[in-house]
Amino acid sequence: MKLGRLNHVGVATPDVEAAARVYADLYGATDATEPKDFPHLGVRVVFVTVPNMQIELIEPLGADSAIRKFLDKNPKGGQHHMCFEVPDIIAARDAMRARGATVLGTGEPYIGAHGVPVIFVHPKDTGGVLIELMQDPALYQGAGGHP
Ligand code: CO
Repeated sequence: MKLGRLNHVGVATPDVEAAARVYADLYGATDATEPKDFPHLGVRVVFVTVPNMQIELIEPLGADSAIRKFLDKNPKGGQHHMCFEVPDIIAARDAMRARGATVLGTGEPYIGAHGVPVIFVHPKDTGGVLIELMQDPALYQGAGGHP
């Protein structure tokens, strides 16, 4: 298992629309989606597309959102995670465990905001950076079938 391409950088913010305006007004990054709510993930998301990846702007949704805890510590928001594509999410999860890293939650990949299975690796194993691993969308067969 080795990392594939950087798919996106996750940025927590108290307001995804205001954050998207900053990327548009300050940096000219105007290719942004409409805000979309993911109640089961506890997030509201806007994707800003730049030539080689996306910025995933994430606002907490609901009282139990993990993003809310992040904003308690970083009220103005900040970089939350980096997400890399992997060819096989199950093989990646197993490799992380075999190499001694902690996979968050149950370790079962779940469908993230991009519509493909993801896992997260604990920041204590990665120099303080929360790492998301994402099934390469080009290799994803759809629900019920990893590649
Ligand atoms: Co992400």
